[in-house]
Parts: sequence; structure tokens; C-alpha cells
Amino acid sequence: MNINTILIIGSGAMGSQIALVSALAGYRTVLQDISFQALEAAVASLRERMDRQVAKGRLERAEADAALGRLHTVTSLEEAAPEADLVIEAATEKLETKQQIFAELDRLAPAHTILTTNSSTLGSSMVAAATGRPEKVCNMHFFNPALVMKCVEVVRHAHTSDETVHAVMELARTMGKSPVLLNREIPGFLANRMMGAIRDEALALYDAGIASIEDIDTAAKTALGHPMGPFELMDLVGLDVGYLIREATYQQTGDEKDLPHPALAELYAQGHYGRKTGRGWYTYDSSSPTAAK
Ligand code: 3HC
Repeated sequence: MNINTILIIGSGAMGSQIALVSALAGYRTVLQDISFQALEAAVASLRERMDRQVAKGRLERAEADAALGRLHTVTSLEEAAPEADLVIEAATEKLETKQQIFAELDRLAPAHTILTTNSSTLGSSMVAAATGRPEKVCNMHFFNPALVMKCVEVVRHAHTSDETVHAVMELARTMGKSPVLLNREIPGFLANRMMGAIRDEALALYDAGIASIEDIDTAAKTALGHPMGPFELMDLVGLDVGYLIREATYQQTGDEKDLPHPALAELYAQGHYGRKTGRGWYTYDSSSPTAAK
């Protein structure tokens, strides 16, 4: 399949970085968000990131400029969807919002367009049902920070065609990623299931007063070789994202052990979402993060 234009929906941390990954890989990339301000902020942050890469000698100025030149922003889906060959939806992790977007995309995009979702919890069957092209729908799940992390989980649902799977796996490879394929939907996919087990144990140890947040993170790094501890990682991904993931998982499984952890729910209710708000498990108002408690 010939992919020229990729449409990314949602200019949050994931959507904006995925858009830059796409532009760097040579695709004409359109980043859509209903908020003009959010788009402006996203592009400014991507420009800064590219400038740092150029300053560090990791990227040629011309290459960075060419990528940014391939990246376009738009607020209207009506304008963006008709020219897209493939869509990566990275909007908020709410089913109704995603279903509305997929119904709109199905109406507006050409018949050949593949529709993917970056959702980490909602299997694409839930949004495919809102379209008349379920065979062209699957999950294409990137990891945070999307510019750096190599893994992309491609998850097929019962009606995703082999052609769609092949095209999305190939696209991920062209983007310099190492895609993994899930043959059927399962809540949490692969990586979040494994990460969840570690995070739950870290929370249990903290709850029981066995060790501090910093020491639990330190052990994960120095004993297990993880690049970040589980609390640092929750702050990086966003406690809002973590909270909504648990809520969505609970909705699917009905298992109370999947509910958001009480301490996480408390931080979420207080609007402490991690790095993006300057406070989560740690505070980020100084050069090095310190435990918030
Ligand atoms: N956004 C973009 N780029 C970033 C970044 C960010 N938030 N943080 C760091 N980077 C880049 C840096 O610019 C640097 O790039 P360069 O080498 O080209 O200059 C590179 O990453 C390494 O950065 P640093 O040397 O400053 O820092 P580290 O070596 O500590 O690496 C890290 C930072 C890559 C974030 C590393 O700590 C790491 O791998 N952490 C674990 C991340 C992880 O587990 N992610 C998965 C989250 S789960 C998820 O996303 C699932 C979803 O469903 C919620």
C-alpha cells in the first residue's frame, strides 16, 4: 500500500511526538487537534526538541527543517481526513470520544484509508464498530516518549485484514520502530500488562511502609537495570493517563483489583498529573525531582 499522508489526531504528548516521528520518516504529516493553542504549543515544543538534537550534533539542520516542513497542523477534521492514507488517533482515552472520531473519519476519509488508534486500553474492535471498514482498523500503540521508545504494539481485532496488519507493521518499521504483533485483543496488551505488575508491587511496598518512593525507584534502576523507577515512570507517562487506563481496564474486566490505586486516585483528584503539571509522586520545580510527600 502507498502511504503518502499520515493524519495524527490529538496534539498531546503522544500525538505530537508521533507526528514528528512520522515527519522525520519522510511522510507528509498532518497533526489535527480541536484546540489551536494546543497545536501551537505542540509545534513549539517539537521545534525546541529538534533544535536540541541539532545542537547535540544528532541531526542535520536541513533534516530537522525538512521534517518540520512536512508537518502541518489543522483544527478541522473535514479538512484533514480526505487527504489521509493512514490515520493514527491519539485523542483522549475516552471511548465515546474515540467512537465519534472514528465515525467521522469513516465518513470523511477515502475508502483505502487505514484507521488506527494509539489507545493503550481500548481494543480497536470498540472503535471499528463505529465504521463501515472494520477490516482497515487496528491499534498502533506507541510508548512514551514516542520519539525515543522503539516498541509499537500492533493489535489486530477479529476482523482486521492481513493487508492492514502488514501495512501498519511496515509503516512502524519505516518509522524506525520495532513493531510487535498481538494476534488478538487483551486488556493492557503486552508491555502495560508487564509494567502493571511491577507498578502494583511498587505501590504495595510503598503502602506497607516498607520503603520510600525514592528507594523503590532506586532498586528498580540499580538492581533490575530499568532506566526509570516505577514512580518516575508513572510521572513521565502522566498520572491522568495511568488513572484513566485503570478505570478503562476495570470497566472491561469488572475486577476490583484493576481499580486505580487509592493514592493514585487521590493525586489524580488533586490535579497532580506528574511531570506535565509539575507534581505527581515527585515535584519538578527544581532541577532534580524530589519526592512530593
Ligand atoms: N520526550 C522526548 N524525548 C525525550 C524525553 C521526552 N520526554 N525524555 C528524554 N528524551 C530523549 C532525550 O532527548 C535523549 O535523546 P538523544 O539521545 O537523541 O539526545 C534521549 O531521550 C535520552 O535522554 P536522556 O539521556 O536525557 O535520559 P535517559 O537516558 O534517562 O533516557 C528515557 C530517558 C528514554 C525516558 C529513559 O529514561 C527511559 O527509557 N525510560 C523508560 C520509559 C518507558 O518505560 N516508557 C514506557 C512508558 S509506558 C507507555 O508509554 C505506555 C502508554 O500506554 C501509557
